[in-house]
Amino acid sequence: MRRASFYIIRDMIKLSDVNHRLQKAHYAVRGRIVQRAQELEEQGRKIIYCNIGNPQALRQKPLTFVRQVLALLEYPELMDGPAAAAFPADVVRRARAVMEKNPNGMGAYTQSAGIPFIRRAVANFIERRDGIPADPNHILLTDGASKGVQAVFTLLTNRENDGYMIPIPQYPLYSATIDLYGARRIDYYLDEANRWELNEPELERSLAEGKSGGVNPVAIAVINPGNPTGAVLPRKNIGMIIRFAKRHGLAILADEVYQENVYGEGLEFVSFARVMHELGEKEVPLFSFHSVSKGFLGECGQRGGYMEVRNLPDDVFAELIKLQSIGLCANTAGQITTYLMVDPPAPGDESYGLYEKEKGAVLGDLKAKAEILGRGLNAIEGMSVNIPEGAMYAFVRFDLPHADGTDPAAMTPEERRKYEAARDNKYCLRLLESTGICVVPGSGFGQQPGTLHFRTTFLPPKEDITALVEKMKKFHVSYVEKLRES
Ligand SMILES: Cc1ncc(COP(=O)(O)O)c(C=O)c1O
Repeated sequence: MRRASFYIIRDMIKLSDVNHRLQKAHYAVRGRIVQRAQELEEQGRKIIYCNIGNPQALRQKPLTFVRQVLALLEYPELMDGPAAAAFPADVVRRARAVMEKNPNGMGAYTQSAGIPFIRRAVANFIERRDGIPADPNHILLTDGASKGVQAVFTLLTNRENDGYMIPIPQYPLYSATIDLYGARRIDYYLDEANRWELNEPELERSLAEGKSGGVNPVAIAVINPGNPTGAVLPRKNIGMIIRFAKRHGLAILADEVYQENVYGEGLEFVSFARVMHELGEKEVPLFSFHSVSKGFLGECGQRGGYMEVRNLPDDVFAELIKLQSIGLCANTAGQITTYLMVDPPAPGDESYGLYEKEKGAVLGDLKAKAEILGRGLNAIEGMSVNIPEGAMYAFVRFDLPHADGTDPAAMTPEERRKYEAARDNKYCLRLLESTGICVVPGSGFGQQPGTLHFRTTFLPPKEDITALVEKMKKFHVSYVEKLRES
């Protein structure tokens, strides 16, 4: 009986019946190479996963304070028994205060926009961070930044040809969501020779090209600090982008999930909200995103984050809340983790010392690993990289010789794109098979024609990073030699 119904279901829904937009969408960081890595791992190979910014999967420890408060909130009975003595006093105090303000507990739906006192705490965090006012009524708590970004695409994609300017290289959430929602994309290239900054003539060029192709641009997405580039944008560059958006009537999506991950000497994270405020800009709609997944928390699995909105009429913001209400609310553990991110222990709290120590260890380690990786790869002939100043990634350029008689410059742009994508995919697959290192081909993020890249994280433990550089060197030399001989 069971077998029969199984066959009936198979006959009823075929791949060709599936949403063509979903079929088109592509998310490289969990693509074919990663599947191959998992197969190899099942066969007993040691794999170094450098494909995804998932810190705790690479042995980064969760912060004790965050987990202690979450533990008490998930099982409040602990607070009334002898086990409470095992928790620092400020942790117990904090958990009790959360329960008072959110008396329905972790198992109840919350308001669609998120638990009100947490939205207030997020506004306070922005005020402290930037020295500017922030309105809790324009803050929405989300299941990670991804859901916030996708909510804005739902909000703004209205007409047939509506399109988004996205960086190349980009984090594929953007290209995949555009495909999923049937929107159009306008690619602008980041300037690799100039620390991956955005460059005004290139923004104008790409916008003009998009418009001449019939696209109606509605917004520009900017990732700062950058994924996959690891770059941190200077204030001046952010000001230029805001003026550009204003000139062309665009909203800005500011993806700032790596704001705590800044390592470059003398560099600081500057938010779009702050620059907008300083410029007195009151017209350009701004959607900024933050997350508990990155920074020093690395709580990817908790799925917490927020979106802050500026220069958006209340009735439009209400549509975002309505959208959230269709999915009820963000998950409660993610909301609480967001709260703990924006309102950490203060000096004088029992947890403060350990919190600062753990935070410093994570950030110090990432900074050291960015240097080891960047310097090591730059010493390999035929490879170059801007030493990451932020985030968790390096976007590494590599050169390969062409087979005799192959001239990419003579190909059509589409032929060339396919040819180069095949080359970086093959390179990354061979790298995986011969060394166990799992990185993502540059074509998954986009790259300038005529260039090849891969993206690697610098999240694995330090010893693995040093070994990784050595292995990559050996692999690259032998891969290039074999290509020359063939
Ligand atoms: C630039 C960028 N934005 C958003 C996200 C998604 O973050 P979240 O886990 O908060 O959905 C990521 C994850 O890697 C990212 O790199």
